[in-house]
Amino acid sequence: MAQLAILGGPRVREKAFHSWPVVDESDRKAIVEVVESGLWGGIEQRKVPEFEKQFSAFQDCDYGVSCTNGTHALEIVLRALGVGIGDEVILPPYTFIATATAVLLNNGIPVFADIDPETYLIDPDKVEAAITPKTKAIIAVHIAGQPCDMDALVHISKKHGIPLVEDAAQAHGAEWAGQRVGSFGVAGTFSFQSSKNLTAGEGGMIVTNNQEIYDRCWSIHNVGRVPGGRWYEHPNLGANYRMTEWQAAILLSQMKKLPEQMQVRQANASYLTSKLEQIPGILAQKRPEKITSHGYHLYIFRYDSKTFDGISRNRFMEALSAEGIPCFGGYTPLYREKAFYACVSEGAPDYSNLHLPISEKASDDEGVWLTQPMLLGPRSDMDSIVQAVAKVYENRAELKDA
Ligand SMILES: Cc1ncc(COP(=O)(O)O)c(C=O)c1O
Repeated sequence: MAQLAILGGPRVREKAFHSWPVVDESDRKAIVEVVESGLWGGIEQRKVPEFEKQFSAFQDCDYGVSCTNGTHALEIVLRALGVGIGDEVILPPYTFIATATAVLLNNGIPVFADIDPETYLIDPDKVEAAITPKTKAIIAVHIAGQPCDMDALVHISKKHGIPLVEDAAQAHGAEWAGQRVGSFGVAGTFSFQSSKNLTAGEGGMIVTNNQEIYDRCWSIHNVGRVPGGRWYEHPNLGANYRMTEWQAAILLSQMKKLPEQMQVRQANASYLTSKLEQIPGILAQKRPEKITSHGYHLYIFRYDSKTFDGISRNRFMEALSAEGIPCFGGYTPLYREKAFYACVSEGAPDYSNLHLPISEKASDDEGVWLTQPMLLGPRSDMDSIVQAVAKVYENRAELKDA
């Protein structure tokens, strides 16, 4: 049995994983076309409306409002829903900070509902328990590209008459029971930031099947203008959150590659799960059968330190990284971030006393993340991940004593 790389032995893997983004001649052509068109922005946009049309249809929605990034997309939707001073919005703490700051920046109060221990996604029972007369919206976050339990969340949203927003920043193309995410709630938001499975470096999109919400979001993202109105006519309060023609051109070109990339990620992820789960103490993020397409922005697995003789998750990740498998521990529960101490609205809970055990376990002890480009390579890349995890398991006694 070879010695662990962290203890001076040979690495399982020397080669880098698949690179990201994937660029070819069609992307270069798309940019040159915009350069030469002379239409770089302003009233006459071509690529932006085309991308809105194609991407919203891809997510089973009638309308799309493109914007600067996924953070602004959330802020715009919450403003369009009328979230304001003292309004509560329920969301998980196991997410990127933008999900919560979108609430704070609209003067609302983030109310954290814990996640499910097996999927790491917001737990519908915890959502229902957190509803109060002040609840103005619920945000479901499809972490890793895995859809939340949309049957339960849509049911709760309808039962209580509270709009459901989907933060689908990580979930391009993901599907629950044959229906794409973003189309279940009143609106869904996406990110095209550099790490995302569809990227232009930066960018965002709101998708919806609700024309009223579309109209409001469109106006907010375009300095309060209204479709068909004059350039200097601003009936609403908004700001400039518009996407550029450059971003839309590259996104249209990148989108052509997305379906095939999704298939490769899904096939590799299924294979990886089947192999990793043969190693004691390793369990993949549970994937309910209703998920007919998984975005796999991340591949998350759960590490049980007890089975690894008490070696901490962080030490395990150091050992795995040393073998040539880059991995991350992921989010910290958001209520621990200083941002929540700096700008809490009146009536907000004392976040410093909040402890949501499942999110804390996932963040501190258990969750291990692999990034999406790692799933784009050949099957032998998956074998090297499995080999490295198995090597750490087999050498756990030496690692513990080191
Ligand atoms: C769950 C989630 N929400 C929102 C965002 C914000 O998107 P952006 O980085 O485009 O502002 C991200 C991006 O990292 C995210 O992962």
